[in-house]
Amino acid sequence: MVTLKTYGNVFDKLDFSKANSKASEIASMIDNKTGAGNDFLGWTDYASKLTVEEIDDIVSTAKKIRENYDALVVIGIGGSYLGARAIIEALEGLYPEDKFEIIFLGNTLSSTYTAQVLKHLENKKFAVNVISKSGTTTEPAVAFRLVKDLMIKKFGVNYLKDAVIATTDKKRGALRSEADQLGYKTFVIPDDIGGRFSVITPVGLLPIAVAGIDIKEFIRGIKDGEKEYSVPSLENPSYKYAATREALASQQHYHTELFITYEPQERFFQEWLKQLIDESEGKEDKGLFCSSAIFTTDLHSIGQFVQEGTPTLFETIIECDSPLQDVVIPSDEKDLDNLNYLQGKKLSYVNDKAYRATLDAHSNGHTPCNVIKIDKMDPYNLGNLVYFFFRSTAFGAYLIGVNPFNQPGVEIYKKNMFKLLGKPEKK
Ligand code: PA5
Repeated sequence: MVTLKTYGNVFDKLDFSKANSKASEIASMIDNKTGAGNDFLGWTDYASKLTVEEIDDIVSTAKKIRENYDALVVIGIGGSYLGARAIIEALEGLYPEDKFEIIFLGNTLSSTYTAQVLKHLENKKFAVNVISKSGTTTEPAVAFRLVKDLMIKKFGVNYLKDAVIATTDKKRGALRSEADQLGYKTFVIPDDIGGRFSVITPVGLLPIAVAGIDIKEFIRGIKDGEKEYSVPSLENPSYKYAATREALASQQHYHTELFITYEPQERFFQEWLKQLIDESEGKEDKGLFCSSAIFTTDLHSIGQFVQEGTPTLFETIIECDSPLQDVVIPSDEKDLDNLNYLQGKKLSYVNDKAYRATLDAHSNGHTPCNVIKIDKMDPYNLGNLVYFFFRSTAFGAYLIGVNPFNQPGVEIYKKNMFKLLGKPEKK
């Protein structure tokens, strides 16, 4: 179970009476599926309902991919992409040994990125997991067409049937009908789970399993989270965190939340969090803006602003004591770099001292800090953390009175883009 701590005098001034009085009502809207967007609350107990057969199907498909291919290309964007990348990178690091190569595509319209990935794939035998709930999103659809073209030219059309796995809606969308017509293996994204809550479904589970991560442990962490974070009061750390963010914004004018990590491999976990929260609560002129930084790297860029700039930011730090790996700082007789005071120390020790020093400097300045702590960066704890944020996001959106599960604003740029591209109207 995660723990939540706060640092900074401003927390003593927050009044939680509104959140306290609404907590059980909002908890019931989530648990009994009565709030706005209630047909998208399937994630609340999805992990508990997953059958052994469903999990085994994902695990055995992942095994086949690892045994028969050099790489997996995961095509998807937004909720159909960020969760898997977040979990894989957080647990494996950025340069792991013996890594099965996973390449993410279809998350951009950049011609340079796409051309470079296609070139990189030219000499590989690769499988493809194309992920799209709607089955019609432009970025993954274009990438999939390009990759299919490459596969057909390299291996012939029959290659597609075994090499392509589609994760999509049970019935609707262009990807579903293509998969049915061409006989791809498919996994289903449930109707009642939206993209940004879908990392706990095959959307996330298949790529995570292909990366060699134990998805049963990930699911166990989510299932424990289902019990731990459904307590219908602010005793629940997930709801307390949501209430704290809301109070910082509405009572103390802290309208930007900066997610902080001291581990660069957690960057995509931050990206996933930003999508989860900003897309869920940023509507009707409401919601906090979530951003992110990697310390100590960004202390050398935005650190000045955080310490002394306009006081509108608060930090939420994901803390974990044990790094994935460590190195010891060697001794050097000459000590020309004056670093012998650190010889024999682990680099994680230095990183931790930098963290403590920064927490003290920022929270005693004008930047309040939430610390969300997990015991270990492992599949169990990450599953549990994901569920913690699911609950806090739903609670926080209901607390400010918005539907957490739609994203009407995202459609506006798409309409403009389709007009400029001359996309034919649907008949
Ligand atoms: O959270 C969401 O709903 C979005 O980010 C979607 O996941 C994203 O737009 C991709 O949609 P789709 O899976 O339909 O291709």
